[in-house]
Amino acid sequence: MYPLNKSFLLAIIVIIIALVALGLYVYMISQTKPTQRILIVGTSPDFPPFEYIDEQGNIVGFDIDMMKELAKMMDYDDIEIVSIDFEGLIPALQQGQIDVIAAGMTITDERKQQVDFTIPYWEADQAILVIKGGDFQPESPDDLVGKVVGVQTGTTAESYLTDLVENQGYDITIKSYSSYVLAVTDLVNGRIDAVMVDLPVAKMFEKQYNVQISGIVETGEKYGLAVRKGNTELLNKLNDALTQLMQSDKWDQLVQKYFGQG
Ligand code: ARG
Repeated sequence: MYPLNKSFLLAIIVIIIALVALGLYVYMISQTKPTQRILIVGTSPDFPPFEYIDEQGNIVGFDIDMMKELAKMMDYDDIEIVSIDFEGLIPALQQGQIDVIAAGMTITDERKQQVDFTIPYWEADQAILVIKGGDFQPESPDDLVGKVVGVQTGTTAESYLTDLVENQGYDITIKSYSSYVLAVTDLVNGRIDAVMVDLPVAKMFEKQYNVQISGIVETGEKYGLAVRKGNTELLNKLNDALTQLMQSDKWDQLVQKYFGQG
């Protein structure tokens, strides 16, 4: 009788402990926040006004505000911005570190083999930037022969110049930088002769640095957002949201905020 009683008591205790533990577990689960839907956006913040780092060290810009609006329209709770050198954006997307690239990225046939692009949201040509008021005022790529020209690694400016050098016999020295800000800094310090960069960005650099646009190359590029190849669900949602946003007043406000024109 006595030993039976003892194991009965033990069983009761075990059950009580188990129940308390279960209760605690259920309570803890109910206290945790509901899971947030976050859209992870990769960008290379050296490209004002599309993406740059402000005085407080935050990544801001047209592309960032645009992504916030799009995410809201697609029912995301928030976006997370991941800073990656431009040339690393497509690999990061392919490896699943980010969901979308928003980086003033030109839609090209070569890139289309690696990622899927949304509809275009901006158009741009290329500009040649030189030191302000200097003797060297190249108007066209022909004037760059014998000179050192800075670009950002992996950009359309880099491939444009590379094609001139490798396929068309131009003697131009291309200097590639991880960021456009570094290229412009080297230009200001006289370490290179010119920088080739997208025209809207060149216009911003003109305001911020002692540089000026000396020539324009009409490349007629179109910017798109990029998602992983085959991620049609996100691509369709982005295209729907983008179509809507571009027709709204919000879009005009964004353009006004970052470009100061309607
Ligand atoms: N539009 C050019 C390209 O697609 C340059 C983009 C550079 N973007 C940046 N965020 N740094 O190659």
